[in-house]
Amino acid sequence: MSIQTLSGLAQAGALAGKRVFIRSDLNVPLDQGKITEDTRVRASVPAIRLALDAGAAVMVTSHLGRPKEGVVGPDDTLQPVAERLAELLGRPVRLVRDWVDGVELAVGDVALLENCRCNPGEKKNDPDLARRMAALCDVYVNDAFGTAHRAEATTEGMARFAPVACAGPLLAAELDALGRALKSPRRPMAAIVGGSKVSTKLSILQALADKVDQLIVGGGIANTFMLAAGLPIGKSLAEPDQVDQAKAVIQAMQARGVQVPIPVDVVVAKTFAADAPATVKEAADVAPDDLILDIGPRTAALLAQQLRQAGTIVWNGPVGVFEFDAFAEGTRVIAQAIAESDGFSIAGGGDTLAAIAKYGIADRVGYISTGGGAFLEFLEGKTLPAVAALQARSA
Ligand code: 3PG
Repeated sequence: MSIQTLSGLAQAGALAGKRVFIRSDLNVPLDQGKITEDTRVRASVPAIRLALDAGAAVMVTSHLGRPKEGVVGPDDTLQPVAERLAELLGRPVRLVRDWVDGVELAVGDVALLENCRCNPGEKKNDPDLARRMAALCDVYVNDAFGTAHRAEATTEGMARFAPVACAGPLLAAELDALGRALKSPRRPMAAIVGGSKVSTKLSILQALADKVDQLIVGGGIANTFMLAAGLPIGKSLAEPDQVDQAKAVIQAMQARGVQVPIPVDVVVAKTFAADAPATVKEAADVAPDDLILDIGPRTAALLAQQLRQAGTIVWNGPVGVFEFDAFAEGTRVIAQAIAESDGFSIAGGGDTLAAIAKYGIADRVGYISTGGGAFLEFLEGKTLPAVAALQARSA
């Protein structure tokens, strides 16, 4: 179903002199108040520029982290984001603290409205809060693909109550690119799902088991799959209570005549530390006091060969502790294989973006999503509530 877009409204001259409220996803990683990865801030700029160029007065908001409602703690403020946004836009960006009941704004202004998740009622999508916020604007824009899987007051409620509701260019581009890639993917289709826990990614693993030709698991998830395959994992991170679920995924894939490749070798250490001595072992030889921190070189080479031949690759999550150089080789080899593949690759998720940046392959990945959880839910085929609300307004 098509959705009204900000660019469509701009082309129609419907933004001149209007108050435009943009819900972006500016939830960026911070270290002591400094942004460590600014992809989402950069990705929010085109919508803001579009509205400014069309003669609007612009308000932007986002959540940052998962704060307690009712207070803005020192780690909750969007101040560092306001500063980065001002640099990128080349104009002042005013951070407004108590904004729900009114924001003074002139055409050409950009106001960044403080962390919307600090407002009581945001998370539970309180309709009163959504109505009050919707009254701030003439046009509501959702450009927050990364938060589109959350039904919150700024992502879903406002879309119902604002005078006009539309999708910003980032949200529209994400839906378009991911939708096209997944509608009729070129085969074979491979997915790489890394991360620490099967339990948090079980539904995506189950959904992908029905769709893909190779389901490559990494990190703690791979350890649980190794347990399911009867292999020793020592004291590695795993979820023994998810072994049956892992077996069910393996069986679902086998029933379709395809495999979940289980590591044949691994890189282990005795402690979880960057300087812990790394040892390559056969998967069957993992000792009771070993921690598996990466896939081994033979496994990496086998997976890389499969990825180079894939028609479509979906990547979410590293296959090892790539932050530590001694345990980064598996993820580096996978990243390189994705870069070298002729297939269309789609990647999303915070750690995946960090790995893409570390190995400098951004320009050789077909599409990089700003979504983490939203990216996974989209891949699963779930309806994203924020998108559904916009669709309902565009019908
Ligand atoms: C993300 O980082 O994936 C999005 O900003 C959503 O954040 P949330 O999981 O806290 O809703």
